[in-house]
Amino acid sequence: MDKPFAYSTKEFNAVRHKIRTLTGINLADSKDNMVYSRLSRRLRALGIDSFDGYLRYLDANQTETEHFINALTTNLTSFFREAHHFEKLKEYLLSHPAPQRIWCAASSSGEEPYSIAMTCAEARGALTNNIKIVASDIDSRMLERAEAGIYPIDQVEKLSPVRRKQFFHRGKGANAGKARVVPELRKSIVFFKQNLLDTHYAVDAGIDIVFCRNVMIYFDKPTQEIILKRILDKMKPDSLYIAGHSENFSHLAYLMRPLGKTIYQVNRQSA
Ligand SMILES: C[S@@+](CC[C@H](N)C(=O)[O-])C[C@H]1O[C@@H](n2cnc3c(N)ncnc32)[C@H](O)[C@@H]1O
Repeated sequence: MDKPFAYSTKEFNAVRHKIRTLTGINLADSKDNMVYSRLSRRLRALGIDSFDGYLRYLDANQTETEHFINALTTNLTSFFREAHHFEKLKEYLLSHPAPQRIWCAASSSGEEPYSIAMTCAEARGALTNNIKIVASDIDSRMLERAEAGIYPIDQVEKLSPVRRKQFFHRGKGANAGKARVVPELRKSIVFFKQNLLDTHYAVDAGIDIVFCRNVMIYFDKPTQEIILKRILDKMKPDSLYIAGHSENFSHLAYLMRPLGKTIYQVNRQSA
């Protein structure tokens, strides 16, 4: 890789230390080039010519922290990713007609909470106040995208024609090639910024279902346990915790028990 900015293992390790302290994210040795290419954009934007200079700028300017975090998060997501979780959600909602509160705790650019909202609308026959959805992420750019609810048409075309018709408006003119989530669906979700490493979570207790998928994999095991306990503090006994496909909490059976397919039920004493 051709590297116009001065960058060595020393700077890579300093970046790793900083992002871990700020977010809990552990960057493996193999992420060396990823760090270089993502942060190079910040160096260019700021007119800084070395990583050492950038790290000094970061320490001196509080406002850069947000850009630094946004640059280093991995935001891969899609509508109805790991579709079996949404089938399970629908089944659960059909057998639990009481009001439900759902928290999507690493919502990235919004495809996941909108998939939750579509599933709720389908299970209840329409969007209803009977279900409250909140969605959070650490990355402010992703939250802006999620709130806007505008997606490239090729992503939306993967959905069924019924869902496309009910939940999206196709863009025209300057917005050709894009589709926007309908206002009722957008309004059904409250988005907010939340770093899962923080000790305080801006969510009221009594959550029935948490989707916390494909984010714990970035944290080490002790950090996962600390974060999981804080999330469970916000959840009802016997509520559902839905994890990502490669996340496993079977070693934390004292907190929640596996129901299969990376869905867990919160133990009574841990909620
Ligand atoms: C790979 S995406 C997963 C998105 C979605 N949950 C899914 O499974 O499709 C991981 C998300 O976790 C967020 N994230 C990383 N560290 C975080 C932290 N400390 N607190 C909250 N969100 C974090 C990232 O910004 C990113 O949007």
